Amino acid sequence: MRIYRFDEIDSTNRFLREKDDVLEKDLAIAKVQNAGRGRRGNKWVSTEGAALFSFALKHDLGIQDEEYMKLPLLVGYSLLYSLKEIENLDYKFKWTNDLYLEDKKISGILVEKIKDYYIIGIGLNVNNLNLEEAKDKGMSLREKTGKEYDLEEVILTIVSDFFKSFEEFKIGKWKEILEKINKVNYLYGRRIEIVNFDKEESGIAGDILEDGTLEVFVGNEIKKYNIGSIHIAKK
Ligand code: BTN
Repeated sequence: MRIYRFDEIDSTNRFLREKDDVLEKDLAIAKVQNAGRGRRGNKWVSTEGAALFSFALKHDLGIQDEEYMKLPLLVGYSLLYSLKEIENLDYKFKWTNDLYLEDKKISGILVEKIKDYYIIGIGLNVNNLNLEEAKDKGMSLREKTGKEYDLEEVILTIVSDFFKSFEEFKIGKWKEILEKINKVNYLYGRRIEIVNFDKEESGIAGDILEDGTLEVFVGNEIKKYNIGSIHIAKK
């Protein structure tokens, strides 16, 4: 594993995406990012004390393309259960890419495809206390426990656990993995609004299904969603 450490960089995802000789398990870690990227073009607040890192996964030609749709879920699952080993708290997985603790976001995941590689970027609030503009929506491990953590140790545990989870996924353990994901499904039973392209619908979220989509009860219908932005409905 090659590790690239930066005191400051624009974005660790951008760094690996543009790296010509990228290899599987290459890992980029930043203390601070000045242009951290979130999903749908959002900015990711990247202050010191957070775990800010990206790593590369080579597209395995033995795995069908649609199986990779489940990758964000697999990353979220693996990250959640890694965190439980570090600090056994009641984390929830918010389909499709976020981890929550006590109704506040503790981590965001950005998966991007470039040539034969998936670049998996994770922002995890660990030691940071100043969540700035994300204050009422974000939470860090230190805020919850009062402890300080060794960031590099946390990151290496998460990356190594991910590759173990990916091996389980490859040998056909998706069903068992999905069961564990559904145990920590943040959206389950909540009224949510789904903004899908220009259309907005409201319904009650159910389970995450075998194909990685989310089941939503909209009126008398059961619908499945695989893309679009999703929010909890405002009361
Ligand atoms: C999201 O919640 O929208 C995803 C946020 C992902 C942020 C991480 S921080 C490390 C990596 N580098 C980036 O620029 N983004 C990801």
